[in-house]
Amino acid sequence: MNMPSQQAESPWQAHAPLMRQPILSLKGMTKQFPGVLALSGVQFDLLPGEVHAVCGENGAGKSTLMKIISGVYQPSSGTLVYKGQPVEFASPLQAEQAGIAIIHQELNLVPHLSVAENIFLAREPRSRVLGLPVLVDRKRLRREAKQHLDRLGVDISPDAMVRTLSVAQCQMVEIAKALSLKAEVLIMDEPTSSLTEQETRLLFKVIHELKASGVGIVYISHRLDEMAEIVDRVTVLRDGKYVGTSDFAATTVDEIVSRMVGRSLDEKFPERQSIPTEDVLLKVKGLNRAGVFSDIDFTLKRGEILGFAGLMGAGRTEVARAIFGADPLDSGEIVFQGERLAIHNPRDAIAHGIAYLSEDRKSQGLALKMPVAANMTLANMQAVSNRFGLVDRKQHDAVARHYVEKLNVRTPSIQQPVRLLSGGNQQKIIIGKWLFRQSKLLFFDEPTRGIDVGAKFAIYKIMDELAASGIGVVLISSELPEILGMTDRVAVFHQGRITAILETRKTNQEEIMRFASGYQGHRP
Ligand SMILES: Nc1ncnc2c1ncn2[C@@H]1O[C@H](COP(=O)(O)OP(=O)(O)OP(=O)(O)O)[C@@H](O)[C@H]1O
Ligand SMILES: [Mg+2]
Repeated sequence: MNMPSQQAESPWQAHAPLMRQPILSLKGMTKQFPGVLALSGVQFDLLPGEVHAVCGENGAGKSTLMKIISGVYQPSSGTLVYKGQPVEFASPLQAEQAGIAIIHQELNLVPHLSVAENIFLAREPRSRVLGLPVLVDRKRLRREAKQHLDRLGVDISPDAMVRTLSVAQCQMVEIAKALSLKAEVLIMDEPTSSLTEQETRLLFKVIHELKASGVGIVYISHRLDEMAEIVDRVTVLRDGKYVGTSDFAATTVDEIVSRMVGRSLDEKFPERQSIPTEDVLLKVKGLNRAGVFSDIDFTLKRGEILGFAGLMGAGRTEVARAIFGADPLDSGEIVFQGERLAIHNPRDAIAHGIAYLSEDRKSQGLALKMPVAANMTLANMQAVSNRFGLVDRKQHDAVARHYVEKLNVRTPSIQQPVRLLSGGNQQKIIIGKWLFRQSKLLFFDEPTRGIDVGAKFAIYKIMDELAASGIGVVLISSELPEILGMTDRVAVFHQGRITAILETRKTNQEEIMRFASGYQGHRP
C-alpha cells in the first residue's frame, strides 16, 4: 500500500509547476474515431530545448496525439497552445510552416524520387529570374540535401532512388528531411526502430545539438533502455488517457512500464516450457554466398530455440533469407527432416513448412484496406475453407479472434480495416498471419521491434509454445537480453561467418559481444 507521504514524494505529477514557458501545451485533448476513443482528455507540454518522451503500449494513443500536434488530425475537443497562442492546424503544411516537423512512425517517402527530391519535396530551391522563382535549382538541391545527410553522418547519395534504400536508410532520409525544415518543435515517432547501434548514436548526437539550440523534441520509442541518454521528461499514456509526467532522472524504467500497463511486470520472459529434443530438424552445411556470408554450419533440433546474435549487417538476416529461398546461394547443403532440400524461392520453402517473419515487415504485404480477420487468414485460406473450397466464415472468424486475443491486438473488432490500427498492432497482425501458416521451422527476424513490453511477453510465450509443440525456432535479434532470455543455444555472427555457437545457459552478454566483434575462439 502506498503511504500518503510516499505519494507526495512521487516524481509523477499531473500538474508539475514548470520553471519555463512551454513552447507547446495541450489540454483536454480528445480524439474520437468511429468506434475508437483514441484520446480522452490528454494533457501534454513541451519546453524549448527539452527532449520529452511519450510512452505507452501499442494503441495507447501516442501517434494520434502527435498527429494532432502536427496537423494531420484535428481534435474532437481540446486546446493546443503554441508559442503562447491557441492554434488549430488544418493541415500538416500549416503546422510545418509554423515550425513543427514530424518524423512519422510509418515512413512516407516517394519511392521513385531521389533522396534529394524527397528531402525537399514541394519545397525545392528554385533559381530566380527577375526575382521570380522558376526552375528547380538541381545543384543547390543536391548540395543542401548532402549537407543534411552529412550532418547525420550517413553515407547515402542524394541522387539515389529511394526505392533502392534499406529501411534504416529511409529512416535516416526522413530524419534529414525533418532537419531541413529547421523546426522549433521536432516530433520523432519511433525513429530508431530500424536503426543500427551506430546510426542511433549519430541520431542521438544530432538530438543533443538540436536540444542545445533550443528545439523542443518529442521522442517516442519502445526501446526504453536507450532513453536515459537523451530524455529529460517522460509522459505516459494508457488507453488514450493521461497517466502522468516525470523527470526522467527521477524515475526508473520499471516505474514507467508499470504506469504504461497499469501493473508491475516482474517477469520479462516466460518460464520456458519447451525442451529441445534429440531430433535434428535442420542441418545446414557450408552455406556460401559470395561477399555476403561463408561457411555457415549449424543444426537445429525440434523443440529448440536457436538465437542468431551479432551486429547488424553481420549476415544473420541474409542466411535466414537464403534458407527461405528469398536470396540465392552459391553453394552449401540444407538438410531438412533428413532430406536434402533444393529451395529456389520462398514458395518452395513454405511448401516444406519453413517460414520467415521478415524484419522488414512493411514489405510483407498487409492488405491495409482489408479487415484484421482477412489479413490473418489470407496466407492459409485452405485451412479455413470447407471441402468445396468455400470459406467457412465461422472458422475463419474464430481463427482471427484466437490470434487477436493471443497477441493482444488492440482493435474494436476483427472487421476493422488494418490501416486503422496503430503501428505496433499492425505488426502483430503480420506475426499472427505467419503463425497461422502452421510451419515446422520458423525464423523470427527481430520480432519484437516496435512492440510494447506487454505484447513482447506474449510473443515470447508463443515462441515457447511453438517450440514445445515440436517446431524449430530461430530467433534473430539485436537485443542480447532477448537472446539470453529465450534461446537454448546461440550462433554468433561476425562479418558473414559464425564465430561461435554457444549454449545460452553457459554464456553471457560479454562473451557473445566478444564473438560478435570478431574474436576467433574455439567452435564447440
Ligand atoms: N484513423 C483511425 N481510425 C480509427 N482508429 C484509429 C485511427 N488511428 C488510430 N486509431 C486507433 O486509435 C488508437 C490509438 O492509436 P495510435 O496509433 O495513436 O497508438 P500508438 O500509441 O501510437 O501505438 P503504437 O505503439 O502501436 O504505435 C488505436 O486503438 C488505433 O487503432
Ligand atoms: Mg504509434
